[in-house]
This record gives sequence, C-alpha cells and structure tokens, in this order.
Amino acid sequence: MTIKTFPLGGDLTIHRLGFGAMRLAMSTFDGPARDPRDGIAVLRRAVALGVNHIDTAGFYGRGTVRANELIRTALAPYQDDLVIATKVGPLPGPGGVPSGQATPGQLRALVEADLRALQLDRLDLVYLRVGGVTGPGGESIAERFAVLAGLREEGLIRHLGVSNVDAAQFTEARAIAPVTAVQNQYGEDMELLAECEASGIAYVPYFPLGGGRTPLDSERLGKVAARLGVSVAQVRIASLLASSPSMLAIPGTGSLAHLEENLAANDIRLVEEDLSGLRG
Ligand SMILES: NC(=O)c1ccc[n+]([C@@H]2O[C@H](COP(=O)([O-])OP(=O)(O)OC[C@H]3O[C@@H](n4cnc5c(N)ncnc54)[C@H](OP(=O)(O)O)[C@@H]3O)[C@@H](O)[C@H]2O)c1
Repeated sequence: MTIKTFPLGGDLTIHRLGFGAMRLAMSTFDGPARDPRDGIAVLRRAVALGVNHIDTAGFYGRGTVRANELIRTALAPYQDDLVIATKVGPLPGPGGVPSGQATPGQLRALVEADLRALQLDRLDLVYLRVGGVTGPGGESIAERFAVLAGLREEGLIRHLGVSNVDAAQFTEARAIAPVTAVQNQYGEDMELLAECEASGIAYVPYFPLGGGRTPLDSERLGKVAARLGVSVAQVRIASLLASSPSMLAIPGTGSLAHLEENLAANDIRLVEEDLSGLRG
C-alpha cells in the first residue's frame, strides 16, 4: 500500500500529494496574469481536499498577481498542519520576473520578504534555489547555504532544502546543515532520489506534469490511463507517488477542474503491470 504522508524534517506530517503555486498567477510563462479570484478559490479548494503542503516562492507571479499574496489572502490564519515551502535565490526583476541570483548578503531580505508576504513568524521549509532555468550550474553553494543555515539557527526558518542542484552541491549543503528536501526537475536524477530515500529526505520534482510544455500524451501513460479510465495526468501523479516513499508531488494548476482531477490521483492504485509498462 502506498503511504500517503511523509514526515518532513521528521516533525511535520504532510500529504505526499501537495500543490505547486506557480500557476496561480499565470498559465504559461509568456501569458497574461490570471484572475486572482480564481487562484484564491483553487487554494481554498486544495486545502479543503486535504492538501497541507503548498510550494511557492516570492518570485512566483505575473505583474501584481503574486502567489504568496494569494496564499495569505486565501488561507491566513493558517491551519496548524499547513506547510508552506518557499524558495530563495532568484532575484525578483521588473514585473516580478526572476533576473539573476541573489548574493549571500541579499538572502536575508528575501527570507524576510517571504515572512511578511505570507504573514508568518517562521517559514517551515526554505529551499536555496540555484542554477539557471535549464539545470544546475555546478558552482559552490556553500556560502549561500550557510546564510540560510544561520537564519534557521535564528529561528526564521524551520527546515532547509536545496533546489536545482547536482550531487556535489547536495553534499556540500548537507555538510553545513540538515537538508530536509531536494527540489529538482522531474526525471533528472534517480541517484539523488535514492540518496534522499536512504536519508529520509523528501524529493520534490518540479514540472511533474511536464511544466505545461512537454505534452503528457506518451503512449505508455495513455495505455495505463485507458485501462484505468483515468487521465494521463492522473497516471503520472500516481506513478510518481508509487516510485518512492520519499517522493512528493506538487502538480501546479490555476484551474479548479485540474486541481480536483490531480488530487483524485491519490486514490489510483497502480499494479506492477502498470508500473513496469510505464518504465518501458
Ligand atoms: N524549483 C524550481 O526551480 C521550480 C521550477 C518550476 C516550478 N516549480 C514548482 O513546481 C510546481 C509544479 O510545476 P509547474 O506548475 O510549473 O508544472 P506542472 O505541475 O508540471 O504542470 C503545470 C501545467 O500543467 C497544466 N495542468 C495541471 N494539471 C493538469 C491536468 N490535470 N490536465 C492537463 N493539464 C494540467 C497546468 O495548466 P492549468 O494551470 O491551466 O491547469 C500548467 O500549465 C510549481 O507550481 C512550482 O511550485 C519549481
């Protein structure tokens, strides 16, 4: 049986099927801002349906529609078991679009901005998001991660994560402070996943549904979806959850219908024949 929860950092019980907030403000990377009322409705429905892990960032937004503000408006005061994970690293540029990486000296202000925007005294999980859009950059992350470790010691952050990292950067961070979660692009690194699993660290792939760019209409997903009478997105989510007890899913959407479809994947049971069919 698939275990549905994960002990994040050992002390926060979260449902492994969570929610990615980046799409609340925009459907596509070059499209217009979405109606904030829809985002608020999606967030409230997500939590009503049992989501207690929301992945966000101060740099998620389009123009004046900001993911963190939507979360605060929709959900504050927060229920006790809600975990909001944020990311720092990319610097918000004009219109809130990320442009460049923060220096170590700029990280505190980004954490404090998240605290203010979300109206929190402490952030449950903060990832250091490094590298470019296409993947890890390979540079040392020690100085920046040490700053976040200091903010954790101060009590502004509960747990730390790393995002868009390679194995060497992951090792570098772990030598500085405990790493609770890794957030890399879907399908990139099975070895890192195995290491996370062995160490009780969450592995949280971004773009779990292809990021809205890669079509999910693969023949393998389609065959399993047809057999079960469900959608390919649901098969992708169910297969992610079945792949490792450390795997968390954060599909992103700004659509109520997609949200409900995605969360219903929690009830899909894939048998070994399905899983081996998906592996090819
Ligand atoms: N660490 C990082 O560098 C990084 C980078 C990117 C994203 N992230 C995080 O990862 C989360 C997930 O990534 P993502 O949102 O970019 O991509 P995703 O979850 O792979 O896919 C979202 C896209 O798929 C569509 N979609 C959602 N559910 C669907 C369904 N059931 N059927 C058909 N289409 C569906 C969405 O459109 P609609 O909105 O119209 O449903 C949206 O275009 C983000 O929300 C964010 O929290 C992190």
